[in-house]
Amino acid sequence: MTFPDDFRWGSATAAHQVEGNNLASDFWAVEHVPDSGFAEPSGDACDHYRLYRQDIALLKELGFNSYRFSIEWARVEPEDGVFSRAAIAHYRDVLETCHEFGIAPMVTLHHFSSPRWLMRLGGWEYEKTPNRFAAYCRVVMSELGSLIPHAATINEANIATLTRQMIEDMTGGTGSPAPVGVEQAPVGVGPVPAGPAVDSGEPGADALGTTADKRNLFLFTWSETGMAVVKRSHTMARRAIKEVSPSTQVGLTLALQDYQPGPGGEKASDRRWAAAFDSFLPALDGDDFLGVQNYSRVLVGPDGALPHPEGAELTQMGHEFYPQALENVLRRAASAGVPMFVTENGIATEDDTRRVEFVRLALQGLERCLADGIDVRGYYHWSTFDNFEWMLGYKPTFGLIAVDRETQHRTVKDSARRLGEIARRNALR
Ligand code: NOJ
Repeated sequence: MTFPDDFRWGSATAAHQVEGNNLASDFWAVEHVPDSGFAEPSGDACDHYRLYRQDIALLKELGFNSYRFSIEWARVEPEDGVFSRAAIAHYRDVLETCHEFGIAPMVTLHHFSSPRWLMRLGGWEYEKTPNRFAAYCRVVMSELGSLIPHAATINEANIATLTRQMIEDMTGGTGSPAPVGVEQAPVGVGPVPAGPAVDSGEPGADALGTTADKRNLFLFTWSETGMAVVKRSHTMARRAIKEVSPSTQVGLTLALQDYQPGPGGEKASDRRWAAAFDSFLPALDGDDFLGVQNYSRVLVGPDGALPHPEGAELTQMGHEFYPQALENVLRRAASAGVPMFVTENGIATEDDTRRVEFVRLALQGLERCLADGIDVRGYYHWSTFDNFEWMLGYKPTFGLIAVDRETQHRTVKDSARRLGEIARRNALR
């Protein structure tokens, strides 16, 4: 079977994880606080801000026809209401380079990091954050919209729900207090709060020039207020984008775990899906597409997540090696009734042969979905490069391409060539 003619094949990155020196962002500030809980600061990352041209050329050479990356709000609007023409010109260059190489851009407008100044206002709990976010989207899209066929407003808009589920698992269902010192990630989600500076202490707030009550970073805000702010940010941003760039297809992305009930876990498992997915349906109403992000499955018992099965193969993130999850999640998410893109799917491993196998099995599942008429329009592997995995630093290696961070030399892995060949053939075999 071949994939639909215009199927998008690509890999994905996020600005803060690859560009380097994201100085005006909230993450940069908290990464540099002593005992922040970050394994290491992001530093130069993959220096993609400078090397984007050679990187995009390499993606083309490998056989891909699309690239998912994010535009960094903290660069475009480094101070409240102050827009950087230079940053906008930079992203115009990146987008034009994509088009020059025949690479269709899939752009994310917010991927976890935010401008530092937003934390002075209350971050992702501030009631006017949706207005600020929509204003930034309007500027970007009025300048660059004609170069952007697909825009995802917010990456993993439901991350707070997953974090809450993880906290429930860790605290036996009480939901509080927030755990400190946790380094293991929930399935399919990179980072979790791991240190006092980010979690509960003042140093993180000081570094951001704010107070602890206002220091609500996107990734560490899981209150009801925060979740409402995120949903409203999406709907206001979509409206702004449609006004200035009506031809751009707009959506968001969700982290979707394959919840599988263990004995007696049916209701609990359904509740998890309803929180992570169904509760977003009203916000998705009016979207052109949904970005599905999946990494593994979670077995759910009546009281929460169950341990991995005996002898399960685990990834560097502690997730079960379970590429079949993608198919299950796509089938379930199809109920939203909008076209879907797999905007992330991948595995953190040192052993690239396991990545090759992971991709092979995940894509077989995707192929079965297509054969059944499920509308999936693209597959973006996470990630293009071994990059900055948030709290965990550079240790987990998700990349199709390795990066020597001293020399910034790129080494293409076998998995990149294999996936590139599939993309070129537009078929698995
Ligand atoms: C989800 C996030 O979007 C991305 O930033 C992260 O690196 C990957 N999953 C892997 O954990």
